[in-house]
Parts: sequence; C-alpha cells; structure tokens
Amino acid sequence: MVEEFRVSPQLSKEDSYKELIPQIEALVASETDLIANLANISAALKTAMGFLWVGFYLVKNEELVLGPFQGPIACTRIQKGKGVCGLAWKMKESIIVADVDQFPGHIACSSASKSEIVVPVTVYDEVVGVLDVDSSVLRGFDDIDRRFLERLVSALEETWVTPIALDI
Ligand code: SME
Repeated sequence: MVEEFRVSPQLSKEDSYKELIPQIEALVASETDLIANLANISAALKTAMGFLWVGFYLVKNEELVLGPFQGPIACTRIQKGKGVCGLAWKMKESIIVADVDQFPGHIACSSASKSEIVVPVTVYDEVVGVLDVDSSVLRGFDDIDRRFLERLVSALEETWVTPIALDI
C-alpha cells in the first residue's frame, strides 16, 4: 500500500481532485473493510485538500451516528432532517452551505467551521450515511467539490457493505 497520496503542489482545486480521486478509488477498490475505507478516505481528503474536518455519519436505528473522521471532535448523533447532514439525508441530495451561520438549523460542532458540503451515500435507493466536509473559510465549496466528492462517493457505494448488516 502507498504510504501517502501524491498531489502536486500549486495545482488548481479541480486538478488536485483529478490527481487525488483516482488514488483514493484505487485504495477503496483494493480493500473490502468499510470502516478502513471510510477512515482512509477521510484522512486522504483532509491531508491532501486541507479541509478542516472530513468524516462520515452512518445511518443506524434511524439516526446519523458519527463514523470515521479526521479533524476536531464532532457531535455524535444527528436526527433526520436536522442540520446540514440530516437534511442531505432527508432530501437524498448533496448540499453546499457557503456560510454556516446563514443556514437555519446548522449544527455547529466546531466554531472554526465556516462552510460545509454534505454528500449522501445511497445504496439501493436508501441513504446509508453521509460524507461531511467542513472548511475554515467562507464559500469553501462549489460545484467542483460537489462533482468530485459525488464521484468518490459513487465508487464507495459500489463497495458498500452496511455496518448494520454486519451488526458493527
Ligand atoms: N455541521 C453539521 C454537523 C456535523 S459537523 O459539521 C462535523 C450539520 O449541520 O449537520
């Protein structure tokens, strides 16, 4: 296994994703353990892209429960429809928040978080979790992030074995 992902310095955000995402996809494709993959995806995205917080919430007993992540400690449980994560789950679509202070119901886990993107993970039309990424700058995310993070999540969905089915 590679020790570190290679992302050339000074690249645009789009080109950084273009270098990084195939490396993460290859890593995920070669490992069957879900938690290991979620942990490595979080670490790879955070270290290569410089985000404040990257992690997964997993649907367990009709609520989102904190899964593997990188960054400051975070809230552990989120109800359906609540916060950005709970809304992305309910709507079954990605949500970009340019300024978390302007988002009604935003759940603030870290005061350093200024903007956020949440991408639902959907298997057989059921949301099984969400990928949540926080930035320390306002307007940290746009359609480029949405496109590449959705592509990454699609690759993950193909390998998904639900923790619920495994009773983890
Ligand atoms: N801000 C999220 C909560 C999770 S943390 O950002 C890690 C929300 O509003 O759902």
